[in-house]
Amino acid sequence: MASPSRPTRVSSPLLLGLGFLIALIAFALQFYIRKHLRPRLWTVEELSLYNGTEDGLPILLGILGSVFDVTKGKTHYGPGGGYHHFAGRDASRAFVSGNFTGDGLTDSLHGLSTMEVKSVVDWRKFYMERYIFAGKLVGRYYDSQGNPTKYLKGVESKAQRGAQLLEKQKIEEAKIPSCNSKWSEQEGGEVWCETGYPRLVKRPGDIALTGKISQRCACFKEEELGRPGLEVYKDCDYLSKSCRV
Ligand SMILES: *[C@@H]1O[C@H](CO)[C@@H](O)[C@H](O)[C@H]1NC(C)=O
Ligand SMILES: *[C@@H]1O[C@H](CO)[C@@H](O)[C@H](O)[C@H]1NC(C)=O
Repeated sequence: MASPSRPTRVSSPLLLGLGFLIALIAFALQFYIRKHLRPRLWTVEELSLYNGTEDGLPILLGILGSVFDVTKGKTHYGPGGGYHHFAGRDASRAFVSGNFTGDGLTDSLHGLSTMEVKSVVDWRKFYMERYIFAGKLVGRYYDSQGNPTKYLKGVESKAQRGAQLLEKQKIEEAKIPSCNSKWSEQEGGEVWCETGYPRLVKRPGDIALTGKISQRCACFKEEELGRPGLEVYKDCDYLSKSCRV
């Protein structure tokens, strides 16, 4: 077997110099980008440039007036990505409405339910944890000094109220276990109880949380079946442990 030929030496003063220069440029660039994105106040116009269409620029997104650098999620936030509409703007409402057309891309939460407002605040937390905070957007949520506006405080206290209501509802509902349920194409839906009997009940906190009434299936003991507000499933026996739905 022939011994491998020695690699020719490539390092020369010229190449070393070039390497050094590249390292220096990379360092300076990194410093520039970091400096450029140190948390600061943004205007709507400035933010709109960071929409992901310009290759050299970071991608920024606003939510409740907080600005985040989402460049590392380029596949989602860049052109063609599923979240591209969020880039370069504050479209807080669209996080829960899913409406990305026209006025749907607004930062106004006017008329949303407590639960929806809480959900937007939860999204902001998600960005706080996963992405880099890049400052505040002057407008609806922060004034020109970067102080939170009355509107932001209102949104945050509504979300907090929602969290409390949700917690209360969870504790209430835990007292009466939910039914088991399954669904299949052939057999349709079925609810059943291991102990107790399936009944439809209104979820107490729902009006305050979502503005709508919804029901859940819960398992009641025989001696509880006389309570007001319990609804027997249609075509199901009073003491059946399982009902088709
Ligand atoms: C997106 O950003 C580019 C520059 O980065 C800008 O020229 C363009 O107008 C922006 N598009 C929108 C819709 O703001
Ligand atoms: C989205 O919002 C716009 C403006 O508010 C409205 O005209 C449109 O009907 C909405 N689209 C959907 C699918 O809700």
